[in-house]
This record gives sequence, C-alpha cells and structure tokens, in this order.
Amino acid sequence: MRICLDRILLLLFLALTPANAVGLSCIKVASALVGRPSHLFNLFQTEICERGCQPTVPHWDLWTRNNSFVPAVRSMMKRMNVPHKEEALLKMGDDVATIIKDQCGPMLGGRHICSDPVTLADFGNCFKRYFFKASIKHIPILLPMASDAACKEQYQYLQGDELWDVTIPNNMREYASVCNQLESKSMPRQEEIQKEKVLEEEVKHEEL
Ligand SMILES: *[C@@H]1O[C@H](CO)[C@@H](O)[C@H](O)[C@H]1NC(C)=O
Repeated sequence: MRICLDRILLLLFLALTPANAVGLSCIKVASALVGRPSHLFNLFQTEICERGCQPTVPHWDLWTRNNSFVPAVRSMMKRMNVPHKEEALLKMGDDVATIIKDQCGPMLGGRHICSDPVTLADFGNCFKRYFFKASIKHIPILLPMASDAACKEQYQYLQGDELWDVTIPNNMREYASVCNQLESKSMPRQEEIQKEKVLEEEVKHEEL
C-alpha cells in the first residue's frame, strides 16, 4: 500500500470521468485525489531524496513493482470485492510502467531522479503525462470496476489520513533504506567491472 496505490486510483477514476456510467461516488473519488500528486511529490523529496537515495528507472523492477505496486493492487482488490481482476490490473500496471520507463528514462541522461530539483520535477511531470496517456488504453479493463458501490468503498479509504500520512511514507522509507544497494546487487557497477578487467589482465600477465 503503497507508493503507487494513488496512481492506480487516479488512473482508475480520472480516466473514467468522461464515461456516462460513472456514479457520483466515483466522481467524489476523483475530486478527493486532485491535491494528492503534489503531496506525493513532497513526500518523495523528503522520504526518498533527502534520505540519500539515488533512485533510477531500474529500481521499479528491482524493488518497487513487487514491494509497492503488487501489494497495492492486492489490497485494493480485497477492499473493492472485484474478483478476477487482479491479473488484468497487474498486467495493465506493467504495461504502463514499460511506457513510462521508455519515455521518461532517457531524459534522465544517466542521472538519478533525485540528483537536482529540476530533474526531479521534470521526471515527475513526464511520469504524470505518460501515466494518463497510457491509462487511456486500459479503460475497457477499468470500466467494469467503477461501480458506485466500489467507488464508495474507495472513497472512504482515500478520505482517511492513514494512507497518505502513514502507509505511503512508510513504504517510501522502506524503499529509501534499501535503495542504494539495489543496483549493485543485481549488476556489477561500472568501477567493479573495470576492476575485474584489471584483475583479469593481471592474472593473464602472471600466467605468461
Ligand atoms: C517479482 O515477482 C515476480 C513474480 O513473483 C518474480 O518473478 C520476480 O523475480 C520478482 N522480482 C524481484 C526483483 O524480486
């Protein structure tokens, strides 16, 4: 529950607003979310950047997907009582993530997301832009979930402070605490590769 829950919900309800079938509760959900992106942006800065984390795009696959996104979808599915949708939502999330990685990754130009305020803001805006673009594609998956009853349930949850002031900040802190070990665990850093090459050469020389 977790970093991306709000994004899934934003997607779920804002993307649906133009549809006729959306009930009043769903519109209330959308309006409850309007101020949240800037709250999240500030949290990202204080809980992630200021803790010395250097987030990069591969961190989504290395940590965030399995530790934030998947649990958020599961918990939402439980609360909304919409069976058989979990798989579709996860697939949708992966698809949206791929689009964002492809579109917003290159503009980082090898920097990490927290490297300076402009980089962070640009990445955040790119994220938002492609998040909504990518979501439009998935309206057919989302529409059947936007019943008035389901939205009422989400609205109650989103109204509470716990999600915004406890759950999401805690998840961000959890990420920040492992953040800088993620990439070196999965792939050797450039310097280490260099070191290995040097060692290899030394070994070769010794063999000669
Ligand atoms: C995330 O979960 C999937 C499915 O359970 C698994 O295949 C994958 O290896 C996990 N990724 C990481 C980085 O743990």
